[in-house]
Amino acid sequence: MKNDGIRPARPADLDALLAIEARWPTTPGWSRAQFEREMSWDRSYFVVLEDAGVVAGYAGLWEIPPEGQVTTLAVAPEAAGRGLGRRLLNALLERCRARSLSRVTLEVSAKNPAAIELYESCGFCVVGRRPKFYNDGSDALLMDLSLEAS
Ligand SMILES: CC(C)(COP(=O)(O)OP(=O)(O)OC[C@H]1O[C@@H](n2cnc3c(N)ncnc32)[C@H](O)[C@@H]1OP(=O)(O)O)[C@@H](O)C(=O)NCCC(=O)NCCS
Repeated sequence: MKNDGIRPARPADLDALLAIEARWPTTPGWSRAQFEREMSWDRSYFVVLEDAGVVAGYAGLWEIPPEGQVTTLAVAPEAAGRGLGRRLLNALLERCRARSLSRVTLEVSAKNPAAIELYESCGFCVVGRRPKFYNDGSDALLMDLSLEAS
């Protein structure tokens, strides 16, 4: 598995993270304080992907044994479609395995086919739905991946 260029996020990345976050309607719109919290909380694993020296994406995980929860995943729009999102998700799943977490969960908008396809291609299954969960009225799909047999 190739996770080159992925490293823990640091405060100097904050402007780049906020810039990417602002450019997608499907991100939760985290504030600087929220990103700072995700970087510093001891149960949070938060990484960035550097592409040609530029922060091109980020991903976050909460480690709550025996489960992990993907909190966020985004790639700069101009870098989308080149495999970076998959590399970031794989880095989170590797971390889960290294921490012996047996299950990974996440929430995604039912109107976000790119993310749903990525998660399904990594083995996540839809296990629930929260109607009208997001501000735009879309449902949240709850997705789940068991790591026990992998
Ligand atoms: C979801 C996201 C992270 C995918 O990142 P990416 O780097 O563009 O994705 P990749 O190039 O690694 O593609 C991985 C898989 O995702 C799926 N995918 C990516 N873009 C897609 C699109 N436009 N339509 C359908 N499926 C798509 C495909 O299954 C793809 O696999 P394939 O290349 O073998 O076909 C990116 O679209 C993004 O940042 N979206 C905005 C933020 C967001 O909505 N995050 C999810 C929050 S839950």
